[in-house]
Amino acid sequence: MDSGKPAVYSELADQLRALIAGEPDLIANTANLAALLYHTLPELNWAGFYFVRGGELVLGPFQGKPACVRIAWGTGVCGTAAARGAAIIVPDVDAFPGHIACDAASRAELVVPLAAAGRVVAVLDLDSPRLGRFDDEDRAGCERLVAILLAHHLDWPAALAGEPRRSRSATARG
Ligand code: SME
Repeated sequence: MDSGKPAVYSELADQLRALIAGEPDLIANTANLAALLYHTLPELNWAGFYFVRGGELVLGPFQGKPACVRIAWGTGVCGTAAARGAAIIVPDVDAFPGHIACDAASRAELVVPLAAAGRVVAVLDLDSPRLGRFDDEDRAGCERLVAILLAHHLDWPAALAGEPRRSRSATARG
C-alpha cells in the first residue's frame, strides 16, 4: 500500500474536485471530503474537521464515533497544529503530551491545518487504530486536498457563517 499512496491521493484529489464542483456550501463539501477520506483510506477510525470559532476549535463534519465538541486553542494534537499553523504527524498518541482521546481505539493521528488569508480557519483530523499509520506522503496528500478545498472556498469565514454567496446579478444591483 505505501508505495501507492501518492496515486491514491491523486485519485482522491480528482474525486474531491468532482464532488465540490459548482457547490458553494462549506458544510456539504467538508462533509463529503470527510466521507471520501474515511471510506477510501485504509485503517482509519475517524476522519473529519474542527472549525475555528471564537478562538477555539469546534467539531465539524466527520465520520467515526462521536467526538469531543470543543478543543481549546493550543491543546491536544488538533489545537497544537492549529496554533503552529503546521501539520502534525503523531505515530503514537500515548507519546504526545496532552493528546485528547476521543476514541480509545485511536493509536496514531494526523492533523492538517487549513489557513485562509493567513489565519488558521479549521483543521482536518485523521485517526488510526494502527501505530505509525501516517507518514509524510499522507501529510502531503492531505495538504493537497485541503488546498483544493480552500481554493474553492476563498471566503471561508463568510461561508462558515452561512452567509449567502452573492450572485453576479445581486452584485450588479449593488
Ligand atoms: N485526538 C484529538 C482530538 C480529536 S479526536 O481525535 C477526533 C486531539 O488530541 O486534538
